[in-house]
Amino acid sequence: MNNAPIGVFDSGLGGLTAVRELLNVLPNENIVYFGDTGRVPYGTRSQSTIKRYAWQDAKFLLKHKVKMVIAACGTVSSVAVNLKHDLPVPYTGVVSPTCFAAAKATRNKKIGVIGTTATINSHSYRDLIHSFDPEVEVTEQDCPLFVPLVENGFISKDDPITRLVIERYLDKVVKSGVDTIILGCTHYPIIAEAIRSVIGDGITLIDSGKETAIYAAKILKENNLLNDSAEKGTCEFFVSDTPDGFESVAGVFLGDNMSHTVEQINIELY
Ligand code: DGL
Repeated sequence: MNNAPIGVFDSGLGGLTAVRELLNVLPNENIVYFGDTGRVPYGTRSQSTIKRYAWQDAKFLLKHKVKMVIAACGTVSSVAVNLKHDLPVPYTGVVSPTCFAAAKATRNKKIGVIGTTATINSHSYRDLIHSFDPEVEVTEQDCPLFVPLVENGFISKDDPITRLVIERYLDKVVKSGVDTIILGCTHYPIIAEAIRSVIGDGITLIDSGKETAIYAAKILKENNLLNDSAEKGTCEFFVSDTPDGFESVAGVFLGDNMSHTVEQINIELY
């Protein structure tokens, strides 16, 4: 048993999709979350910058004596692949748990992957799916405008701008006949309702944040690291820009489960 917090990080709000599920599956755990809102987006940056940012984010969480680090970010998981070897605590990114779930879900062996430009260029999801089953047809599409839409609160399924952008990006993926789409960036589940209302009901959407939280719970259990407290856990949120925008979208997204402490920190010190 270990009552230290779980550390979760992302470039911004996207990792909250993992936090939301952690609150469901492990309600007694304490969570320290870092959203790098001052440097979002990561997905349009170079590999070396993404790796440097990821390492700083993980170091910030380690300072909080976390018992596990979750990179709740498709971009970091796809690019900073060595992070797991450099950390003194268990680590997971989002790519493996999400690919397992998608491979299980598809019936016609046609999977769509949407993510940031860095993620799609890395082919991380496609390559892992092919390592399970080379016959799966994978259609990849980057959606660089999704992260700014989410970070700026354009998350309603009725927002005409959000709908237009979704239509533009997903047209090719839907036409390729996929029965499953991986939301390979953790920001995307925040607009899952909007995506669903544009593409209809026939396609299974795989939520990378949710699958990662379920997988992280499994790792903690296997390593005997679960919190044995009977109390509801606490969430501490840290961001690298002003907390306002984060707080309002996070409040809508996490609802009553949202702790109202959001603190700004200087990530360049790590
Ligand atoms: N949530 C991050 C991801 O999963 C967004 C990356 C970005 O900031 O572009 O890829």
